[in-house]
Amino acid sequence: MAPEHTESTEPVFYVTTPIYYANAGPHLGHAYTTVVADFLARFHRLAGYDTSFLTGTDEHGEKIYRAAQAAGASPQVFVDGISNRFADAWRLLDIEYNHFSRTTSQRHVRTVQSILERVYANGDIYFGDYEGLYCVGCEQFVGTRDLAGGVCPEHGVAPEVRREGNYFFRMERYRPWLVEYLQKHPDLIQPDAYRNEVLAILAEPIGDLSISRPRQRVPLGIPIPWDQNHVTYVWFDALLNYVSALDYPNATFERYWPSTTHLIGKGILKPHAIFWPIMLQAAGIPVYQRLAVGGHLLGPDGRKLGKSLGNAVGVADLVARYGSNAVRYYLLREFSYGHDGAVREESLVERCDADLANNLGNLVHRVRSMLWRYRDGIVPQPVPQQYDQALINEATRLASRTFSLVRDLKPHLALEQTMAFVRSLNRYVDAQRPWELNKDFSGTTPLDTVLYTLVDGLRIASVVLEPAIPTKAHELRRSLRLGDFTLAQAGEWGHTPPGTRIAEPAAPLFPRLERSSRMPLTGS
Ligand code: MSP
Repeated sequence: MAPEHTESTEPVFYVTTPIYYANAGPHLGHAYTTVVADFLARFHRLAGYDTSFLTGTDEHGEKIYRAAQAAGASPQVFVDGISNRFADAWRLLDIEYNHFSRTTSQRHVRTVQSILERVYANGDIYFGDYEGLYCVGCEQFVGTRDLAGGVCPEHGVAPEVRREGNYFFRMERYRPWLVEYLQKHPDLIQPDAYRNEVLAILAEPIGDLSISRPRQRVPLGIPIPWDQNHVTYVWFDALLNYVSALDYPNATFERYWPSTTHLIGKGILKPHAIFWPIMLQAAGIPVYQRLAVGGHLLGPDGRKLGKSLGNAVGVADLVARYGSNAVRYYLLREFSYGHDGAVREESLVERCDADLANNLGNLVHRVRSMLWRYRDGIVPQPVPQQYDQALINEATRLASRTFSLVRDLKPHLALEQTMAFVRSLNRYVDAQRPWELNKDFSGTTPLDTVLYTLVDGLRIASVVLEPAIPTKAHELRRSLRLGDFTLAQAGEWGHTPPGTRIAEPAAPLFPRLERSSRMPLTGS
């Protein structure tokens, strides 16, 4: 179930990706979450939502400090470089975010410090000694039950033993509150399997959360306002980016919070489903509206794609080979959000060829060449009595059907519906046999209606496809001399003005892809 918005005027949608660790550049796993977020943001904008979309980089902590040292760079220079690589990759993928959040920004540091002070003043932070097993990859203390065969299942390395003075956040105190909150808000964590996982964790004590490190050991963090010898950099720092980037507690924050959908990979469920709501509650901020947990993209070896496991696919490489529209389409159409899926270069090529080159590309080519062959490139005036009503109904229902799937976090099904509609248009061409209709020149012929139906059908398909393949959708409409339309206009028949002359037939909009033999998909 998608969340309901409470605004009576313009509805609001705030979507976030995790902020990615600035210890290494972006890979296809990061791109996946970011493309899904961009798709959701673009769909909501088309539907008239006042939309805000946040992504960014997480730039504090031991892992990043070590990576900077290994690179022989100062931490700030190092994270600036990595952060730029993320921003560059998102530009290549046509990602249209509103906020690029960085935990080293002054605004973020100020917000974290003021919230720390508030929570400390309320008695929810105390100083204590900690000894435990620490996974640097997760930036978290881990329990033995989090391990598999003595190593972290996420990072494949054994945790280190740590003993030091830390500040702790009284998380355990809020456990009963969170259990009750989850019971009252059954749609908070989606899909349901993850909600159940969280409830199972909450059935036993969760302990308090260590939120600081001695500054002399890890200088890369935000100083604890009342104790300059300690810094916070783990989750207490990173999670707050979702509100600091909205300039909490000012007007932008008031506008977009808590109409929030947080997209995350399942590997960071616990911080987002447990630490974060409790932090918000302790700080007196309403809980976000929805946590949308995604599965992992897997490499050909069946392991999670990611730099730490050495099987990452570079975003720039893939876009250079296939273009951003193909990469976006593949990620959105091939994988079902919430489930794991294996990445294969062959399936990218097959999927894009079948759906974009053959189904949609073929239709575009047929429509444009028929308009030129039979009507000198001019969109004719239809005769509504001659319409194929079943096809028009399918067309006008497409926008609302796909949007409801999008709200339910099912982009792949929204695209499947759209491709089914494009197949219906292709079948309509086959059934109407326009090349025969054209022999009958008696006044306004049915051919006019057939051609008009196809152009307006393509207009509707292009609007609904725009969140997935934005530049190709625009190109398609430009070739038909059509401008932009809202989702509401995609739900209405007949916005194509008759009488306009479309562009001359040109190179195919969706050429078939060549599988690159230059390098394997598992290169960086
Ligand atoms: N910095 C933390 C998040 C802080 S959010 C307040 C972090 N960063 S990360 O760089 O490790 O990125 C994690 C996110 O990247 C995952 O939650 C997921 O959204 C995305 N992915 C990284 N690898 C992935 C796959 N192989 N498959 C799908 N998504 C993955 O954790």
